[in-house]
Amino acid sequence: MAKKNKAYITTPIYYVNDEPHIGHAYTTVVGDVLVRYHRQKGDDVFYLTGTDEHGAKIAESAMKSGLDTQEFCDMTAAKFQDAWKTLNISNDYFIRTTNKDHKEAVSKIFQTFHEKGLLEEKEYEGMYCVGCEKFLSERDLVDDKCPDHKREPESLKEKNWFFKLEQFLPKIQELIEKDEIQILPVTRKNEVLSLIKEGVMKDFSVSRQKTSVAWGVDLPFDDNQVSYVWVDALSNYITSIGYPDDMDKFNKWWPADLHLLAQDILKFHAIYWPAFLLALDLPLPKTLFIHGFFTINGEKMSKTIGNVIKPQELVDKYGVDATRYLLLSQFPFGQESDIREDHFVERYNADLANGYGNAVARVTTLIEKNELKIELDKKTDWLDSLGKHYSNYRFDLVIKDIMSRLQELDGYITEKAPWKIEDQDVLTEVLGKASNELWIVSQALLPFMPNIAQQVLDILEAEQIKKAPPLFPRLEN
Ligand code: MSP
Repeated sequence: MAKKNKAYITTPIYYVNDEPHIGHAYTTVVGDVLVRYHRQKGDDVFYLTGTDEHGAKIAESAMKSGLDTQEFCDMTAAKFQDAWKTLNISNDYFIRTTNKDHKEAVSKIFQTFHEKGLLEEKEYEGMYCVGCEKFLSERDLVDDKCPDHKREPESLKEKNWFFKLEQFLPKIQELIEKDEIQILPVTRKNEVLSLIKEGVMKDFSVSRQKTSVAWGVDLPFDDNQVSYVWVDALSNYITSIGYPDDMDKFNKWWPADLHLLAQDILKFHAIYWPAFLLALDLPLPKTLFIHGFFTINGEKMSKTIGNVIKPQELVDKYGVDATRYLLLSQFPFGQESDIREDHFVERYNADLANGYGNAVARVTTLIEKNELKIELDKKTDWLDSLGKHYSNYRFDLVIKDIMSRLQELDGYITEKAPWKIEDQDVLTEVLGKASNELWIVSQALLPFMPNIAQQVLDILEAEQIKKAPPLFPRLEN
């Protein structure tokens, strides 16, 4: 038997100081559509998501909530897990960075860096934004404040362990230029290369004095310091698949085929992460895909503005499958864009209520009424033709092709007007063709709408096709 292709796909691990919103949902649904597509093709898939639970920002949020820090993390991590359950996310594992196994692995990774002489103790002084979990430079500030968090950064001065990044930069540049680690879209690859060439990437601090931040992984070689954020966070991609203790499992999945992320964390994934992996003598991930940050009705999503959309609100309004579909059909994957609620409703009515839902209702109602026996031919070649869009991460084009096929079907039904056909053989032929079309379209929709597309497939594949229940009730705009 031919060896199966494997696909190891990850999302960022989300900070637990925030509750799941549609920004997180977007990346996670994209990954889920991809892994479902791969599973459908018969590939061996590992889909990873999880939560990033250490750092000052999280300790601060926990303090405000009045809960113990770990309890606070448990509570928010559970919210992410619930949200992904609601959205029918089929992750194979959910990593939490406060897991014992992960912390032990991080400690070992630090030990390796230390033994290899890649860490250096230095005095650190800088402007630190707790909201971003990173040091800002002058040019990041607007009116002396972090533009994202509208607060002044704290001045921080202390002895930290620095990771010697600079020595890895020429190698990383070469690997990125040669696409050994492919950074998509290409504009993002160029951004990363300019960062390296401009010389702004410096050795950076990877630890904190416990007196300033205690919520982190203990360093094995320094009792006074804890790990600080990026070694801990990025290494989730390898600790989740067994590194360093279960190397059989690890070697089965590593290198990652795809890390999904938005541009906010590009630098960490495209520069820090390859450096850590080179330091550990591990292969680099094959592809990073960086999608855009979207705004909501033209504004940045923020608690202050009060326009944060939670996945549950969308699910309550559109249902799970339509929410997944609508999130991905808004704009080409990778572009920076705006999400508009009125577009959601329009799209829902056009593609799902009047499109797919209506076609399924018309065809199945007529078949039931006339008690016709339908044989499906189950031809899948058209499905293969969607593969090129998936390879280009153009989910919008997959959707577009599916919708044009549905429109053709609609035209066919209108033209043949089966409700007027009296000859049973002719009627069987027309509705048989329509059923085959619905079957192939439902197969193509499975990764996007796993429940409803499967429901339609079950109806079509039954001994006797029965009228489908209402799938997508029309919504008022
Ligand atoms: N914990 C770090 C990531 C560590 S990965 C090793 C982090 N967490 S986060 O909670 O801030 O998540 C950022 C990610 O959430 C983005 O990269 C993106 O995947 C997703 N998004 C959050 N808001 C978004 C938008 N408004 N638009 C698109 N994606 C968004 O950074």
